[in-house]
Amino acid sequence: MLPSYYEFHNPVKIISGHKALDNLPSELQTLGVKRPMVITDKGVSGAGLVKLFTQSFDSSGITIGAIFDDVPPDSSSEVVEKITTIFRQNQCDSLVALGGGSVIDTAKGVNILVTENSDDLLEFSGAEMLKNPLKPLVVIPTTSGTGSEVTTIAVISDIKRNLKMAFSSTHLLPDLAVLDPRLTMTLPPRMTAATGMDSMSHAVEAFIGIQKNPISDAYAVAAIEMIRTNVIKAVSDGNNADVRLAMANASTMAGAAFSNSMVGVVHSLGHATGGICHIPHGIAMNIFMPFGLEYNMSKCRENIAKLLLPMAGAEVYARTPEPRRAEQMIHYLRELQKALYDLCALPINLKQAGVTKDKLPEIAKAAINDPSIIMNPREMDENDALAILNKAFE
Ligand SMILES: [Fe+2]
Repeated sequence: MLPSYYEFHNPVKIISGHKALDNLPSELQTLGVKRPMVITDKGVSGAGLVKLFTQSFDSSGITIGAIFDDVPPDSSSEVVEKITTIFRQNQCDSLVALGGGSVIDTAKGVNILVTENSDDLLEFSGAEMLKNPLKPLVVIPTTSGTGSEVTTIAVISDIKRNLKMAFSSTHLLPDLAVLDPRLTMTLPPRMTAATGMDSMSHAVEAFIGIQKNPISDAYAVAAIEMIRTNVIKAVSDGNNADVRLAMANASTMAGAAFSNSMVGVVHSLGHATGGICHIPHGIAMNIFMPFGLEYNMSKCRENIAKLLLPMAGAEVYARTPEPRRAEQMIHYLRELQKALYDLCALPINLKQAGVTKDKLPEIAKAAINDPSIIMNPREMDENDALAILNKAFE
C-alpha cells in the first residue's frame, strides 16, 4: 500500500564509470566554477589518489585554488575553521571532497561557513537551519559505505564545547557525486567489508522504516541485491574494478534510500556503541543488523520477508514458503556475515569488537536518545535496548 503522502528528494547528479573522474573538469565547467578547493585526508593523498585527481585538470582552464589533505578520521569544527580560512585566503569558489564520511562532512561544514560568511557552525546546526543554497560541492567517495554523497546530513564534533553538531538540510546535498572504482581499489579487505555492511544497513533500515516509500524501496532493494552479489568478491579481490564500481553504486543507492526514509535502531545502537566504545561504524552496523531485524519482526514481518529476494536470490525466495521468508532473510544475512568473518575477521558480536559487558547499560541509555530511533517501526525503550545489546554481546 502506498503511503498517504511522501517526499523523495535526490537532486545529486551522479556520474559513474571506470574513468568517471576524467570527466570532472567538464563537470566543474558546467557548474560554472573556476577555483575549487580540494579537501581530503592523509590516507587518500598518501595512496596517490590526489595526483590521479589533479591530472585530469590539465588544460581545462580550471585552477585548483588550494588542497587541504589533513582531515582527521572524526571531522571537527576546528578543522572546518582551519580549512575555511585557507578557502578564503585562496579565493576559492567551490569545494571538491575526496574521501570517506569524515572528509565529506568536513567539506559540508566548510561550505556552510564560506557561503554564510560565518565563523561559527553552531548557529546552523539542527534541521533545516540553512536558508540559502551553498557553493558548488562535488563529492568523490573513496569508500563505499556512508552514502554521504547523496545525503542531506553532516555530523561535526565541536571539541571546545564537547558536543556533536548534527546538520540536516537539503542545501547540504552535493551538486555532483563521482563514482570511479580507481578510488576504492586501495581499501583494505576488512574496511571494504565494514563499509559494505554499513551500506547494507542503510538499505535494510530504509526498507523497513516507517518513512519508507516506493522510490526509496526501489533504491534499497537494488542496493541490497548489488551488495549481496559483490561484497564477498570485493573483499577477496580488491583489484576487481567491476566489483568495486558495483559496490560504489550500491552505496550511493542505499544512501539515496536512507536519506529519504531514514534509518532505525540498528543505527541508534551503532551510534551509541561507536560514541562510547569507539567501534567503527560499519562494524557496529554489521553486528546489530540481524538483531535489529529480529527486534522489529513483530511490526514489519512482511517487509523483512520481501527482502529475502534481494538477500538470497530468486531461487531461495521461490522455494521458501511465505511464512518463513522473514526468518530466512535474517538467516541469509547471518550466512553473509559468517562468510565475511571467515574472509577478514569482520566481528559479528560485540565481544569480538572489543566491547566490555559493563558498558552495555551506558550504551542502552545513549541509544534511546539517538535521533535515528524516531523512524524505527517499533518503539525501543532502555530495557529493550539492553536486551538487544546482551543478545549481540557474544
Ligand atoms: Fe550508517
